[in-house]
Amino acid sequence: MNQAATDKAQRGLDLEKVRADFPILERLVHDKPLVYLDTAATAQRPLAVLEAIDGFYRKHNANIHRGVHLLSQEATEDYEQARLKIARFINAPSERELVFTRGTTESINLVAHSFLRPRLQPGDEILITWMEHHSNIVPWQLLCEETGAVLKVVPMNRDGELEMDALAEMLSERVKLLGVVQISNALGTVNPVMEICQMARQHGIPVLVDGAQAMPHQAVDVQALGCDFYCFSGHKMYGPTGIGALWARAEHLQSMQPYQGGGEMIRHVTFEKSEFNEAPAKFEAGTPNIAGAIGLGAAVDYLQQLGMDNVAAHEAQLLAYGSEKLAEVDGFRMIGTAANKAGVMSFVLGDIHANDVGTLVDLHGVAIRTGHHCAMPVAQFFGVPATARASLGIYNTFEEIDVLADALQKTSEMFA
Ligand code: ALA
Repeated sequence: MNQAATDKAQRGLDLEKVRADFPILERLVHDKPLVYLDTAATAQRPLAVLEAIDGFYRKHNANIHRGVHLLSQEATEDYEQARLKIARFINAPSERELVFTRGTTESINLVAHSFLRPRLQPGDEILITWMEHHSNIVPWQLLCEETGAVLKVVPMNRDGELEMDALAEMLSERVKLLGVVQISNALGTVNPVMEICQMARQHGIPVLVDGAQAMPHQAVDVQALGCDFYCFSGHKMYGPTGIGALWARAEHLQSMQPYQGGGEMIRHVTFEKSEFNEAPAKFEAGTPNIAGAIGLGAAVDYLQQLGMDNVAAHEAQLLAYGSEKLAEVDGFRMIGTAANKAGVMSFVLGDIHANDVGTLVDLHGVAIRTGHHCAMPVAQFFGVPATARASLGIYNTFEEIDVLADALQKTSEMFA
């Protein structure tokens, strides 16, 4: 990487400082510096997040919404502050529209059970796309089996871009929900979600967006997108595991049945009947992941302080550099060549199985993911059993891409 290019990419992000924020980057893997290129699977956590979780347990730990004592009030305040800052981060009209969940998967299942299931009749359609993660396929399949509704799939082209004409033709009054991923975890494709929402809205079709991969890479504005439901996970965006959120329009939340019954989601209980709380409490039965929510709030503070435009610009530079650099490796073939892509490079290396590629580059300290990336139909579409995938985060450097390219070249030569 030449100095001019490095300088240009780093203007917005102080990369050295960012890297110093992530203690895990100091460790060695097989006696080599860790090169972490698996952020799409789960991101590493900055000190700010680790300290927020630690600080909560050390100083404020108590149950929330249930106590008159000071610790409980502090814990409640911290939890609700986290909700507020996360809601603002995605430009939600109100923090009351943000429901804490375990992550994207639970958010989608919540919508499937509480919103869509009561609205489905046999013959109704649920529309998804070919590049969905299993979490945006299987809940709808289960619902179709239960109700007699039909799952329809919007096709994609060989670059891994949605066929927008086909999508337009598939929209009809039979479609009761459209589920679409904003950034594909398997291909890196950035889908035109705003345009898709506009198209769906003309037919009165609610849109659910899987934002798991989008949240850590670019600014998200749910009002500008025009979607009905937006789902994301804390651990993909430098926050803790086991916490995420569903944003939904207030009118939907109001009309939806509870997902789970239990404490805190009720207003009044007798053995004959229970009255439910208002959203978001209606969907947060039981003691929630309080420390997780606070940790996710800290991750949002951290990303905001870096600036999402800087984050996106840095990763775009890395992606452009990586796409060129890896193309020089013998036998390298990128899977996913959309014109609009975010920081994911899925690939095959000659005939070498992806698992062998992953195992061998690990010996160089390089962590990548291999397999079907929880999106089997994508692998089936491209006729490959698996791909290797390098995914980018805010802490990655151009030099790390060089290390990956070198490790891949050596792997390729071993099998020549
Ligand atoms: N869905 C995650 C990934 O893409 C686990 O790796």
